[in-house]
Amino acid sequence: MTMNICARLGIAFPLFAFSHCRDVVAAVSRAGGMGVFGAGSHTPEELEAELAWIDAHVDGKPYGVDLVVPEHLAGGGIDRTATDLAREIPDAHWQFTRDLLEQHGVDASQVGPEDRGKFGDNVSVLPEVVEASLDIVFRHPIALIANALGVPPRAMIERARQHQIPVAALVGAREHALRQVEAGVDILVVQGTEAGGHCGEVSTLVVVPDVLDALGPDRTTYVLAAGGIMTGRQMAAVMALGADGAWTGSVWLPTVESEVPQAVREKLIAASPRDAVRSRSRTGKPCRQLRSAWTEAWDGPASPGPLPMPMQQLISLPAFERIDRATDGGNQSARALSSYFVGQGIGLVHEVSDCRQVYRAFVEGFAAGYGDLDRFAQGGDGSADKG
Ligand SMILES: Cc1cc2nc3c(=O)[nH]c(=O)nc-3n(C[C@H](O)[C@H](O)[C@H](O)COP(=O)(O)O)c2cc1C
Repeated sequence: MTMNICARLGIAFPLFAFSHCRDVVAAVSRAGGMGVFGAGSHTPEELEAELAWIDAHVDGKPYGVDLVVPEHLAGGGIDRTATDLAREIPDAHWQFTRDLLEQHGVDASQVGPEDRGKFGDNVSVLPEVVEASLDIVFRHPIALIANALGVPPRAMIERARQHQIPVAALVGAREHALRQVEAGVDILVVQGTEAGGHCGEVSTLVVVPDVLDALGPDRTTYVLAAGGIMTGRQMAAVMALGADGAWTGSVWLPTVESEVPQAVREKLIAASPRDAVRSRSRTGKPCRQLRSAWTEAWDGPASPGPLPMPMQQLISLPAFERIDRATDGGNQSARALSSYFVGQGIGLVHEVSDCRQVYRAFVEGFAAGYGDLDRFAQGGDGSADKG
C-alpha cells in the first residue's frame, strides 16, 4: 500500500527533528519538516510557556510534542513525591556523588535527598506530572504526540483520538513494535542503538527492516527510522529500506539555535562516534550520551552502580545543574564531567550550522542519494545489468 506521511501530517519533507529546544522545533517546522518538542525535561508550567512560544513562532506549520512516559517505573506511584523517592536512595550513592563532584571542584555540600534542584518534585516521569503535561499539550494545536518509553498510557491514546492527533512511539526491537501496534499507535519511530538518549541494542540498519518485516506488506502503521541519521544520504538509505521518513535528534544539538551550553557544543563538534557511550549513569536506563568523567565513574569499578529510573535521575538532575553551572563559570575540571545525551552520528558533524542549513543539506543529500540509486537502477553505469 502507499502511505504518504507528508500528506497525513501536512509537511513538505519527511524529516522529523526531536529537540528539547523550542527554537529548533519552530525552525524545522517552518522549513518544511516537523519539529517535535521534547517535553520530558520541562515542568508543566514551563511546558505551557514553551508551547505558547512555539505557537507564536511556527507560522501555522505543524509541530509535535514528545512526552517521556515509562511503561514500568521503579518505585513509582501517584502518592509518592520525588522527594519521598529521593529519601530511599542509599547514602552510598549520595556519598559517591558528593565525592565525584568534589574531585572536580564542584560544590557538593548540599547534595542529598532534600536538594531537588530546579525541578523540585517535577520529575517528568512521575504520574502526576505526566497527567498535568497531557492536560497542557492537548490545549495546543499539536499535529503529533509521541511517547518515549514503552506503550503510551490508554489515556494518552484516547485523548489523541478525540483530537484526531496521530500517536507515535519509540521502539528499538521487533516485539516492542508489535505491542505498540496492538495498543493503537499510528507511527512507529524505530530507533537503532546508534541513537542519542534511551536506546536498545540493535542497529538502525537491522531493526528497521526487522520491524517492517514484522508489520508485513499491508501495514497501516507508519514507520520512521531513527538512530545515527545525520545526512540526507542516510535518510535516502533508510527510506530505501522501506521507512516512511527519518526521525532525528543529535544532528540538531550543535546548531546555533540549540539550547546546549557552549562547553557541550564544543565537545559535540570535537566528538568521534565512539565518544557517544551507552550508560545507565544518567537516568537508570541504558541511554546514549557523551562519554565524560561522570559516565566513566558511574560505570567504573568503584561505583555503587546506577539505580533504576527514576532514582538515578533524582541524583543526576541536580548534580548536572551544578556541573553545568560550574563549567559555565570557567571551572575546567567540572568540564570533564559535563555530558549530554547524543548519538554516535555526532562524529559526522564537524561544524556549527543553523537549522535551516541543516534542513537544506538534508534535502540536497536526499536528492543526491536517491539520484545515485536511480541511476544505478536505470543501469546508467551498467552496474544493474551485470547481475
Ligand atoms: C539530547 C537528546 C534528548 C533526547 N530525549 C528524548 C526524549 O526525551 N524523548 C524521546 O522520545 N526521545 C528522546 N531522544 C531520542 C530522539 O527522539 C531520537 O530518537 C534520537 O535522537 C534519534 O537518534 P539520533 O540522535 O542519532 O538522531 C533524545 C535524543 C537526544 C539527542
